[in-house]
Amino acid sequence: MRLTVIGCGYLGAVHAAAMAHLGHDVLGIDTDPHRASTLARGEAPFYEPGLPELLAPGAADHRLRFTAEPTTEDLALADVHFIAVGTPQSAHGGGADLSQVFSAVDLLLEHLPEGGSPLVVGKSTVPVGTAREVARRLAGRAHVVWNPEFLREGLAVKDTLHPDRIVYGLPDDPDQARAACQSLDTVYAELLAEGIPRITMDYATAELVKTAANSFLATKISFINAMSAMCEAAGADVTVLAQALGHDQRIGHRFLQAGVGFGGGCLPKDIRALRASAVSMGVDALADLLAQVDAINQAQREHIVELAVQHAQGGPEGVKGMEGMEGMAVTILGAAFKPNSDDRRDSPALDVADRLAQLGATVTICDPKALDGVAQSHPGLLPQVDVEEALKGAELVLLLTEWQQFVELDPARAAELVARPIIIDGRNALDPQAWRAAGWSYTGMGR
Ligand code: UDX
Repeated sequence: MRLTVIGCGYLGAVHAAAMAHLGHDVLGIDTDPHRASTLARGEAPFYEPGLPELLAPGAADHRLRFTAEPTTEDLALADVHFIAVGTPQSAHGGGADLSQVFSAVDLLLEHLPEGGSPLVVGKSTVPVGTAREVARRLAGRAHVVWNPEFLREGLAVKDTLHPDRIVYGLPDDPDQARAACQSLDTVYAELLAEGIPRITMDYATAELVKTAANSFLATKISFINAMSAMCEAAGADVTVLAQALGHDQRIGHRFLQAGVGFGGGCLPKDIRALRASAVSMGVDALADLLAQVDAINQAQREHIVELAVQHAQGGPEGVKGMEGMEGMAVTILGAAFKPNSDDRRDSPALDVADRLAQLGATVTICDPKALDGVAQSHPGLLPQVDVEEALKGAELVLLLTEWQQFVELDPARAAELVARPIIIDGRNALDPQAWRAAGWSYTGMGR
């Protein structure tokens, strides 16, 4: 089939490449000419394992193109148009900024002839009600399906080609719904043949499935972080607690890792967007729950800063003000919001680094992939890719993004490099016994 993918960020670039890999003829469209030309050269504009292989010239046998300036022919001849633009948190309040979605709709309105019936497939995460509005604007030129994407950064290619489920939010009209469903089934034929569940529903449910999934994951993380505070108060160990909880198959082991909390381009903005929808629709209980999930997440960052100040003040007797960090050499391991990603959006590691720098610490920040432009965007921090260099002379080390190379650090060697062997493990990713045996003062989260 002939497809376009409008918006080539983490979602769209991976989707375009994956669809070409499935054998479709794909045109990726991005308003940023630099991004479009980078992709057109077969290069990934961000770090995502597996993507370079799909983009490499020749990989898709000329079925994959990218442009910043699509022609009418490009758009009018395609069977299916995917909308994969960003829906960032709005500058006013917590709701989603839909300007990129409606710009994509305007682009289609400009080029699609009247009376045609191509399919427009929304993949972006949007507040409930958006699909209906997109369908209203495109009426007479295209049919609309909402097909949210659940990919994780770092695993985006795998998640796109082997999703847990495929969700279609279909139009109310049964004939339109049937035709739309058939078209999209053809696009995803290879995935459906593998037996991946495909669930059809109305627009509103499809929009809510996506925000509900992310809100549930965020709630799971905030729950275990709240339990981690309880474990600290009670002298219990949250890592052992989580392990025991996870054996209950109704709970499961995943997303029960206590630590500095969640960040990234999705979870934080999605819980805020769902909260804003809940407030505007009078669903107070959901709004209150999500506010609490957000507050617990923010409190974890504050808690780590307090632990750092406590060490600077020389003891666990409680923090007296926020003094003591001035001039202290602090090394933060991690800048990305999670390992295997170069994404720093709402990164807890970077947030804590900034707060410690504001308290007067001299902060070195180390990350294997996520330091591009940090010196400009965070002039108070000292970026360092080499972990041994970053550790040299540190008086306090914080592990905030659990990259494999940090988790595998040899504590004895690390102790030789630092000025004072004190580590706060903000992801509970290290073995406390091994680090203590090598002479470190080790503090985890809730253990
Ligand atoms: C998330 C969803 O998982 C994905 O389905 C959706 O499409 C987009 O949002 P992503 O943002 O890539 O994906 O990251 P994810 O792996 O979910 O992690 C989110 C954050 O939670 C990270 O900061 C991570 O460090 C943190 N996290 C995750 C925890 O703090 N504890 C955990 O147990 C799991």
